[in-house]
Amino acid sequence: MLTTGLPRIPHDGSVTQTPVQGKSILITGGSHGFGEGLARRMAAEGGLVTIADIDEERGQEVAREIGGNFVRTDVTDFESNKHAVAEAASHGGGLDIVILNAGVTSGLGLGDDFDPQRYRKVMAINLDGVVYGVAAAMPTLQARGGGDIIATASMAGIAPTPFDPIYATNKTAVVGLVRSFGLASIAQGVRTNAVCPAFAETRILGPMRQGLVDAGVPLLRVEEVVDVYFDVLASGATAECWFVQPGRPSEPFAFRRAPGPRASDGSIAAAADPQTQFEMERKIKDSR
Ligand SMILES: NC(=O)c1ccc[n+]([C@@H]2O[C@H](COP(=O)([O-])OP(=O)(O)OC[C@H]3O[C@@H](n4cnc5c(N)ncnc54)[C@H](O)[C@@H]3O)[C@@H](O)[C@H]2O)c1
Repeated sequence: MLTTGLPRIPHDGSVTQTPVQGKSILITGGSHGFGEGLARRMAAEGGLVTIADIDEERGQEVAREIGGNFVRTDVTDFESNKHAVAEAASHGGGLDIVILNAGVTSGLGLGDDFDPQRYRKVMAINLDGVVYGVAAAMPTLQARGGGDIIATASMAGIAPTPFDPIYATNKTAVVGLVRSFGLASIAQGVRTNAVCPAFAETRILGPMRQGLVDAGVPLLRVEEVVDVYFDVLASGATAECWFVQPGRPSEPFAFRRAPGPRASDGSIAAAADPQTQFEMERKIKDSR
């Protein structure tokens, strides 16, 4: 597997057959699609699953089937996220794994077809939902001595996505959050990563699905995507964004190193090294 050179937080000896056995797990957007697939597989592997979703009827049904817990949650509301965390902690006796997965496409252009209300709504679900989820979960994860946060971003967070630039904007923001906060959260023993799937067979594709099939675009199966969250959990990685593409193994995407400063003689300054930058940022933060 490709390694990104980013730090890792090794698991304690408790990770044996499956990284979810006996763990308390919160999954936003768990009523359908990837979230439902994750809820089913994680519960089957001994996880104590709480589904947090706006679709109450379906979420209750899935929770009942898997012997899990459901909490009606609107991820666009911070209080609702905090309530979901409290419910998961109460169900699972604490909190170990948080999957921030609720999401929608925008269907918005940036011309006559732009609608500020819809824009705010989409950004609130796909971006605020992740930021609020992280902020709501951190104190409870920290109280446990650490854990895992995995956000569902998208290939649209890594590659240009002209058919939905607003979706690309919020997914790129999630990737940015994970790459930065995944380094910051090490201090609390929390690994923060993203899974970035290409097109997959869920209802989010809506009417776009037929066009994709007609154009010969291969679609991922939900199970293939679910596998990658398990790979991420087993990896001990943090601040990584794992792509998921049909027909090839998933890996953390190797972002190109950003240009760093040069010394006056043109030589590469020590501050160009990512580890040095990280240390510098930590000192700046500590001096505040
Ligand atoms: N399917 C794909 O092709 C694809 C590709 C890349 C990334 N993604 C991302 O995967 C994630 C899961 O989507 P999916 O493909 O499983 O679609 P899905 O529509 O099957 O599931 C999305 C879930 O989010 C929930 N949700 C929507 N708004 C919510 C809100 N305000 N509060 C709480 N829950 C809310 C829905 O009820 C649903 O259960 C999304 O973040 C999506 O952007 C999907």
